[in-house]
Amino acid sequence: MNSRPARLYRGTPRNLAFLARRLRAGELVAVPTETVYGLAANALDPRACEKIFRAKGRPTHDPLIVHIHALAQLAMLAETNDAARRLAKKFWPGPLTLVLPKKSAVPAIVTAGLPSVAIRMPRHPLMRRLLRLVGQPLAAPSANPFGYVSPTTAGHVRTGLGREIRFILDGGPTTIGLESTIVDVRDPRRPRLLRPGAISRAQIEAVLGQKLFSAGKHPRPRTPLPAPGLLARHYSPRTPLVLHKKIPAGRAAKSSAAEAWLFFAQPRGLSGPNIFCLDARGDAGRAARKLFGRLRTLDERGFKKIHAERAPGRGLAEAINDRLRRAAGNRG
Ligand code: TXA
Ligand code: MG
Repeated sequence: MNSRPARLYRGTPRNLAFLARRLRAGELVAVPTETVYGLAANALDPRACEKIFRAKGRPTHDPLIVHIHALAQLAMLAETNDAARRLAKKFWPGPLTLVLPKKSAVPAIVTAGLPSVAIRMPRHPLMRRLLRLVGQPLAAPSANPFGYVSPTTAGHVRTGLGREIRFILDGGPTTIGLESTIVDVRDPRRPRLLRPGAISRAQIEAVLGQKLFSAGKHPRPRTPLPAPGLLARHYSPRTPLVLHKKIPAGRAAKSSAAEAWLFFAQPRGLSGPNIFCLDARGDAGRAARKLFGRLRTLDERGFKKIHAERAPGRGLAEAINDRLRRAAGNRG
């Protein structure tokens, strides 16, 4: 815990230079990305990375994502292959994380002792400027206390970690709102989708020219936790959440005021203090952007239960439904 609570810094050149110095000195800085806010440390400094686990209360068997700003850094950190290069060329900078065999430059604490490393080149302009100023890759998981909903604003970071960290770079609300898509390309003949995100399964398959294997349905690799982010209640609000394929409007209309009903799109002719939607018109992009903030505000309102409705369709819907399932604490 800190004596001084966290401060929000706007992305002025002076502040960026200051925060880059803090990072180079081995301190933690919460950073905006286009997906969610991350809690960053110099990825090549094991002591600095240790602080991430402490601040988040994150078990050290859950590895971190390493953020870079130039392709040359990829070759320094990981053994690349053709599939990885094609995906990087198409989707970086952007919300895609690649898992590859690690090189010795990456400290064991970053990868939780795994022989692989997760790498992403984010697109957020402030994060890119900061990475360039630091001149080192930055390890950063989402900037939330372990197990809680990922932060999509600097305010969310302060609420969750304000007493554990000192520096938050405020880059405004994140534009995507869901964590990056993670693809394991260690074996280019068996690429696996470890976590769905804004870059869809279909987009990745189109670039690779082959189907993605799923994380769960195929033989587990040697490690006990192949993708620890898949831990069941990884994105959970405290309020119990029940997931529905489609919420029957009649049931929501008759329900007790203690239960919240979170429709995907605004239901016709139904409104009330416990009726919500992710996006009035059911646009998946806007729904994704609002999802985590919505789960937080519903959580704070003290409802006994949250009923949420699955997103229809594919693409981004797969990622939204993945996070809703985790919020509900179900596997699969
Ligand atoms: O969009 C994002 O990915 C955000 C921003 C900050 O970049 N980061 C993020 O990190 O959401 P988070 O909290 O999900 O933590 C990193 C996750 C781990 O929980 C794990 O699922 C996966 O990345 N990961 C990291 N290294 C891995 C590895 N070697 N093999 C498999 N999965 C790995
Ligand atoms: Mg996380």
